[in-house]
Amino acid sequence: MANLYISCILFTQLLLIHFAKTGAKVPAIIVFGDSTVDAGNNNVIPTLLKSNFQPYGRDFFGGRPTGRFSNGRILPDFISEAFGLKPIVPAYLDSMYSISDFTTGVCFASAGTGYDNATSDVFNVIPLWKEVEYYKDYQSKLRAYLGHRKANYVLREALYLVSLGTNDFLENYYVFPLRQSEFTVEQYQDFLIGLSGNFLREIYSLGARKISLTGLPPMGCLPLERTTNIFGNHECIEEYNKVAVNFNEKLKGLVAKLNQDLPELKLVFTESMYDIAYQIIKKPASFGFDVARVACCSTGTFEVSCLCSKSNPLTCTDANKYVYWDAFHATERTNKIIVDNMTGLLLKEFS
Ligand SMILES: *[C@@H]1O[C@H](CO)[C@@H](O)[C@H](O)[C@H]1NC(C)=O
Ligand SMILES: *[C@@H]1O[C@H](CO)[C@@H](O)[C@H](O)[C@H]1NC(C)=O
Repeated sequence: MANLYISCILFTQLLLIHFAKTGAKVPAIIVFGDSTVDAGNNNVIPTLLKSNFQPYGRDFFGGRPTGRFSNGRILPDFISEAFGLKPIVPAYLDSMYSISDFTTGVCFASAGTGYDNATSDVFNVIPLWKEVEYYKDYQSKLRAYLGHRKANYVLREALYLVSLGTNDFLENYYVFPLRQSEFTVEQYQDFLIGLSGNFLREIYSLGARKISLTGLPPMGCLPLERTTNIFGNHECIEEYNKVAVNFNEKLKGLVAKLNQDLPELKLVFTESMYDIAYQIIKKPASFGFDVARVACCSTGTFEVSCLCSKSNPLTCTDANKYVYWDAFHATERTNKIIVDNMTGLLLKEFS
């Protein structure tokens, strides 16, 4: 009898250890940035840059268009899942969700935004400073909901994902004369690095300690940019890729400096956004893709947002064969491969 009792206690303890081991690695995922990570905040703001209609989301749970710029899930969703949390990270402004849903993950990102205020002005989306305002609002709601002690634990131990920068170059610097008249592209990069540093210091001062910073992708290979490369046979625009590589090097320098300056901060730069994406684009077949030059939606050469329409008969039937979903955004499958490439590092650093 006594033996049975003791083995039962042992069994219970083993179970508890097992749950502790398979349980979530961080209490929550908190997201800032642009369309690479926006789960639908643009749905409720007055901008043209939306994706809450078909065919967006056709491979998402229930085939639902959520405002994610893909056929299915995006980077934070897969990262959340890899950390043992929910398979999606909901958008803060999505009325389907409330504070009880945001205890394990929340997204403040806005498609079209950048580090530079002038970038978010282009499509009238949420500027980065305002994402931080929403985050402050979230903090007080979370404290009211969980109590101060628990909420502070979540805010301190959460993994913060920060992913933006492409729009500052492709939607702002290279399109409008304002910043080009003020800065060379090298100077503009340094200007953005300054803004990135300010932003990271600010979320640190508000309590963030575990932060993953994502660099720029090979942005010269986005189908929309290839389309404009008329005299270059629609190859990747290497100038833009060079800027991305250079900017990522500067971000790494910033990351090293902030880790030195700010006690208890663990800030990690992830290379995957450029490195693995570049491999996929150069050798799509070795990752099981058929097409990297054009996107799945419509002609695949320029359609984004409202131009990517359900009624276009050219839209591909199997998005898994395409690297890009629309002319500016990756398919779900590409997102998954990028996250698979970065989770080893993230799990090692943050759990
Ligand atoms: C961006 O706009 C906000 C709000 O107006 C302002 O506080 C901030 O200083 C601006 N940033 C820059 C770099 O101009
Ligand atoms: C990530 O991708 C890079 C570039 O292709 C590769 O060198 C590296 O081995 C990959 N890492 C993992 C963990 O898959």
